[in-house]
Amino acid sequence: MLKVDDLKDLAAQSALDLVEDGMKLGLGTGSTAARFVDALGRRVASGLKVLCVPTSEATRTQAERLAIPLTTLDETPELDLTVDGADEIDEQLRMIKGGGGALLREKIVATASARMVVIADDSKLVATLGNFPLPVEVVRFGLLATVRLIKALAAQAGCEGEVNLRAAQGDAPFITDQGNLIVDCIFGSIREPEVLAFALKRVPGVVEHGLFLGLADLAIVAGSGGVKALRPPGA
Ligand code: A5P
Repeated sequence: MLKVDDLKDLAAQSALDLVEDGMKLGLGTGSTAARFVDALGRRVASGLKVLCVPTSEATRTQAERLAIPLTTLDETPELDLTVDGADEIDEQLRMIKGGGGALLREKIVATASARMVVIADDSKLVATLGNFPLPVEVVRFGLLATVRLIKALAAQAGCEGEVNLRAAQGDAPFITDQGNLIVDCIFGSIREPEVLAFALKRVPGVVEHGLFLGLADLAIVAGSGGVKALRPPGA
């Protein structure tokens, strides 16, 4: 029986097969994406030429340590491929992301990529999104008003539940790489993710939410039976 960490390694290794010499890559954030970055670093050390945009300061630090050549979206606004993890994936490859707090840069980088490939162990596959609390990045100004509006508009979209400010160490709030806050929304089943996504975007204090809809072109999911490639409907 393989452990979860072995499954993450398997998914990460499979994604590496999609990387070609000369590609411009987006590098995801989280424990699964970190395995891909480690594996990519070994290929770079043996001569692979790539140019990469990290989706967080943590991934930037890791990539720098591995001597992976980095660029920015300002210098390189179009990428070939982004490889990233996810907190939940449904059968349409809709996802919840942001458990690591990097959802804003992750979404910007994925959207700037011709292809987005999500890598995961099979515990991330769900029938309906929402068991994992939905992360939403918000600005500090007007936090209480923003939370109230999130709750009200989410309720209209069929989602109700607690909206909690994410904490870091002690009582201090978690601060994203962009200097914002994260609220985690415990909505339970999100029956209509597109409707909720639209509602959240109507809240002025919301910078971005962790629903990644229509972004993944492929999911590489590792389980005890091996690695499966899942595609969105119609792909
Ligand atoms: C980071 O903000 C997230 O979107 C991660 O991609 C997600 O939380 C998956 O992380 P793990 O691979 O560590 O489960």
